[in-house]
Amino acid sequence: MNLKNQHLLSIDQFSSLAEVEKIFKLARKLEAVYQRKEPSCLLQGKILANLFFEPSTRTRMSFTSAFQLLGGSVIDVTETNSSIMKGESLFDMGRTMSAYADVIVMRHPEVQALQEFVAAAQVPVINGGNGIGEHPTQALLDVYTLLKERGERNVEKIKPLTIAMVGDLKHGRTVHSLSKLLSLCGHITFKLISPKALKMPSSIVKLLVERGNRVVETESLNKGVEGVDVLYMTRIQEERFATKKAYQQFAGKYAIDLAFYKKYCSPHTIIMHPMPRNSRLAKPEISADLNDHPNLAIFRQAQNGVPIRMAVFCFSLQMSV
Ligand code: NCD
Repeated sequence: MNLKNQHLLSIDQFSSLAEVEKIFKLARKLEAVYQRKEPSCLLQGKILANLFFEPSTRTRMSFTSAFQLLGGSVIDVTETNSSIMKGESLFDMGRTMSAYADVIVMRHPEVQALQEFVAAAQVPVINGGNGIGEHPTQALLDVYTLLKERGERNVEKIKPLTIAMVGDLKHGRTVHSLSKLLSLCGHITFKLISPKALKMPSSIVKLLVERGNRVVETESLNKGVEGVDVLYMTRIQEERFATKKAYQQFAGKYAIDLAFYKKYCSPHTIIMHPMPRNSRLAKPEISADLNDHPNLAIFRQAQNGVPIRMAVFCFSLQMSV
């Protein structure tokens, strides 16, 4: 992996599965720390700065949990308590934060903000989500989850795989990163299910095909899920639409419940979602009646974020474990 300055900004930094395997191998080792079976002081004396300029629960908390379990300390800035409110530039923020922390996790609504910040930062930066761009650590934990759910260790063994990605594929940074990461395997069938206006960016579709994968794009959830091994649901990204009205034409468009699952999915289909599910909708993307279904992986997925982020910190800070 080319972690230039040990930053993790995009899945484009990975050019082979071997690099991904290294992170997973370390994450598996660190599971013992996550499960409180082994204490760790690997990052003792180190400080993580979480800079979140967009809402986050799982990502911020799991980065925090991971860093603290490895013995480090965490400082936080959010949009409302930062000097960005006073007009400070991201460059100034990047340079200043580097004096206070050993590593920075940054989430920002603008795709380009990350580069501006990284240009000034003097410590490793991890992308915690840059607008509609990418979310690389989510993709790592998603593939790690998929392997665990299937009882495999080796990423190569993931194939043959048919994965349906459903919802707002245009604005969803998780599916951008996940599809790019999975595409390194080759021979994956991607069923991209979205309204026409919310299709996966064509540059990503092109990359998936170039890497020897099959892509099927459709608007129909019923038809699209037939025979899939993984059903990856996503939230329509309300905050990315110019108006409420523009969002409302798609709100609730794709939702599954137990009855749907039984009727259209294979009994082995694994259900994933980066979360949050939008429970304000009459029908959230995944209904609560699936909560106890053994193939619903969403809570295990969130849990896997901790060992994966521990491993990412170790690589970024070049710690040998
Ligand atoms: C996602 C995100 O922020 O991109 N959440 C997450 O980090 N797990 C997905 C979303 O907000 O819909």
